[in-house]
Amino acid sequence: MKAIILAGGSGTRLWPLSRKTYPKQFLSLGDKESFLQKTVKRILNVLNPEDIYIITNNDYKFLVKNQVEEINFILGENILLEPVGRNTAPAVALAVKYLLEVKKVNESETIFISPSDHLINPQDAFGEYLLKMDNLAQAGFLGTFGVKPTKPETGYGYIEKGEEISEGFKVKRFVEKPNLEKAVEYFQSGNFYWNSGMFAFTIGDILEEFKKHAPDIYEKIEGKSYEDVLNTFSEMPDISLDYAVMEKTDKAAVIPLELQWSDVGSWESIYELLPKDDDNNAVIGNALTIETKDSLILTEKRLVSTIGLEGIMVVETPDALLIAKKGEAQKVKEVVSKLKEQN
Ligand code: GDD
Ligand code: MG
Repeated sequence: MKAIILAGGSGTRLWPLSRKTYPKQFLSLGDKESFLQKTVKRILNVLNPEDIYIITNNDYKFLVKNQVEEINFILGENILLEPVGRNTAPAVALAVKYLLEVKKVNESETIFISPSDHLINPQDAFGEYLLKMDNLAQAGFLGTFGVKPTKPETGYGYIEKGEEISEGFKVKRFVEKPNLEKAVEYFQSGNFYWNSGMFAFTIGDILEEFKKHAPDIYEKIEGKSYEDVLNTFSEMPDISLDYAVMEKTDKAAVIPLELQWSDVGSWESIYELLPKDDDNNAVIGNALTIETKDSLILTEKRLVSTIGLEGIMVVETPDALLIAKKGEAQKVKEVVSKLKEQN
C-alpha cells in the first residue's frame, strides 16, 4: 500500500489565519504539530517512509518540505508538485501517473488517499483502520471511511450504507455537499455517514473509474508521460474526486470510523476542540477576558482584551481581524470571495 497525502488546498474557511499563502494544513493552532505533520505521523505508524507521498501545489513546496523535516521525515522524491491547483481529482490522477510511470508501481497496488488537514484521535488507533481499507481496496472496492453525523452539516459528503460486507458496507449512494434540506433528511434517516475525505483503491480500479466517469481527466493521462501530464495540467477540469468519481461509481464501500474525527473546517469546530477556561472560553495567544464567556479568542500579535462578550469569535492576525458570532462562521468564505473580487 502507498499513501498519497493531499496538501494543496487553499483553505478559506479559517480566514484570516488560513490564507492562500499559508493554508489550514500548515497550521498548528496551539498544538506543537501542524495538521500535515500529524497526518504524516498517523500514516507512518503503518507504512514505511518510502511509501508515503505528498502532493501539493508548487507554491507550497518549501512549506511542506520544512514541516516534514521538522518531524524528521525526509521526503526525497516523494513530493509531487502541481503547477496549478485543479482540485483533488486531477491531483489523484497525477499521483497515479507518477506511481505507475516513475516509481514503476504495479496497478494492483492499493493507494490510500488522505487529506492533510484533519484531526483523528487517538492517532495510534488509526493503523488498524488503514489495514482494513487495504483489504477493501484489494477486494475491488473504492473504500471510504464513514463518520457518524452529529448534525446536518452541508460542508461534507454523505454516504448511504447498503448491503453489509466483511469490512463494512457497500455504498448505496454518495452525495457530495447536499443542500440543507437534503442534509437534514439524510441526518434524520440514520442510514448516512459523513464522508471523512479519505479513500483507498487499487491503481487499476481508480484508472477504470476515471475512464468511465471522468473521461476528461482520463484522456489527459492515458498514453501520456508524466512530463506531458505536468505540462498540460492546467487544462484539467477543476473538480474534486467526490464529484468526479465517488458520486458516480457503483464500486464504493464504507468502513464506519469509530474514532474521534474532525475536519476542523470552521472556527466553531476549532472552538469545540480547544480546551476551555472556567468561563468556557477557548483562548490562544495573548488575551485578557473580562466578563466574557463561550467565546474564542485567538491572537497572533497584539494583546486582545474583551469585555462583556458571549458566544463571539475573535481571530487577530497582524494584518486582519475577524470578529464573528458563533454559528455564523461558515460565512467566512463569503469574506474571502468578496476580498478576491476586490483584488
Ligand atoms: N494536492 C492538492 N491539490 N490537494 C488539494 C487540492 C489540490 O488542488 N485541493 C484540495 N486539496 C486537499 C486539501 O488540502 C485537503 O487536505 C483535501 O485535499 C480535501 O480538500 P478540501 O477542499 O478540504 O475538501 P472538503 O473539505 O471541501 O471536502 C472533502 O472532505 C470532506 C471531509 O472533510 C470531501 O471529500 C467531502 O466529501 C468530505 O466530507
Ligand atoms: Mg476539508
